[in-house]
Amino acid sequence: MAGVALRSCAAWRLGQITRMVGSSIVHRVQVHTTSSPLMGATVEQFEQAKNKLSTLKNDPGNEVKLKIYALFKQSTQGPCNTPKPGMLDFVNKVKWDAWKSLGSLSQEDARQQYCDLIGSLVQAEGGSSTPVAAQPAGSSTAYNTLLVTTEDDITTIKLNRPAKKNAITTEMYNEIIAALEQAAKDDCVLTVFTGAGDFYCSGNDLTNFTKIPEGGVELMAKQGGELLRKYVKAYIDFPKPLVAVVNGPAVGVSVTVLGLFDLVYATERATFHTPFSQLGQSAEGCSSYTFPKLMGAAKASEMLLFNKKLTAVQACELGLVTEVFPDSTFQSEVWTRLKAYAKLPRNSLALSKQLIRSVEKDRLHAVNDAEVERLTERWTSDECFNAVMSFFQAKAKL
Ligand code: COA
Repeated sequence: MAGVALRSCAAWRLGQITRMVGSSIVHRVQVHTTSSPLMGATVEQFEQAKNKLSTLKNDPGNEVKLKIYALFKQSTQGPCNTPKPGMLDFVNKVKWDAWKSLGSLSQEDARQQYCDLIGSLVQAEGGSSTPVAAQPAGSSTAYNTLLVTTEDDITTIKLNRPAKKNAITTEMYNEIIAALEQAAKDDCVLTVFTGAGDFYCSGNDLTNFTKIPEGGVELMAKQGGELLRKYVKAYIDFPKPLVAVVNGPAVGVSVTVLGLFDLVYATERATFHTPFSQLGQSAEGCSSYTFPKLMGAAKASEMLLFNKKLTAVQACELGLVTEVFPDSTFQSEVWTRLKAYAKLPRNSLALSKQLIRSVEKDRLHAVNDAEVERLTERWTSDECFNAVMSFFQAKAKL
């Protein structure tokens, strides 16, 4: 979505970011002239790596270019201490984020990583066409954005980006799909979703769309649509009881998929907000079907068309939430309840869930397809572009 907002921001076009990052690297090198070896790469190796960068024939993609930029800055200037650029200064904010993400990595280690990265790019051009950009983690055990644990016959998938209110990045979408696939196969009785920190989830990470592929905004929308289709499908097809432990406010897609959960427990502090029209978008997560079914068309329209934010109690009255708990006892009450439920016979629970849901499966897949098609179109619309620009402008004024 933010990518739509950025489509007129020429600096974000691939060629320009190449020049932007490339020029920083080529023109701003101020490496010490000492000939003594550094701890990792030597100054000479660093200089060689820098020269090799300008000889690369293939564009390694924005992710890699940002990594190169960040490692270069860290190598030559140390950890990022410059003020954070404003929300509307997209290019510098993304560069700043990349540099900042290196934390306290030493300059020596940064130089070594810089040399290794350029080396691997050069090597990749020696015949292999394999993309260098990191692939999203899909492993069943190690996740970057989730904490997945199994205890007492319960697998818990905890969204783990509390500093960003658990906004769902592309990587996180892929990891959740992988975690659901894994949980579907494991021996646990229940699968629980929750969030780290004070939010359950703030929905789609708006920066997902700042990574515009070479094919432009249309390709970005198409790829985003395919990922969303796969993501929602993973919930529709999930074969065991799925429980949401909504530990705080929930926004966007984290709310819409709740209609596909079997139990939704919420702290009284939680709110439920789907600001789609505000953002020039449209409903997803099968909510265009599940919400009217759960709460009636009039109440569903208030949420999905008119952006009404529900309190936990209101969401419970409308059937979206199973039960609301006081915030002070939320975790202890909910987990006591879930541990007791997890002692019920595994197969009986799974088969009963499947009976309840199977009647609707084909319809849900069709709804998912239709919603994705509509959203893919929305992401390239002027309405969406204008709404997203307003969002960033409002943030910039804060
Ligand atoms: N995408 C990207 N970043 C997000 C985000 C999202 N959906 N939600 C929160 N963040 C980031 C903020 O930009 C901020 O980053 P920063 O520290 O680098 O500035 C950080 O998370 C903390 O959020 P902040 O806005 O400071 O917290 P808040 O308590 O004032 O507000 C929200 C929280 C969720 C209400 C607000 O961030 C928001 O409205 N986010 C957008 C939600 C949205 O529209 N989602 C898509 C729905 S379709």
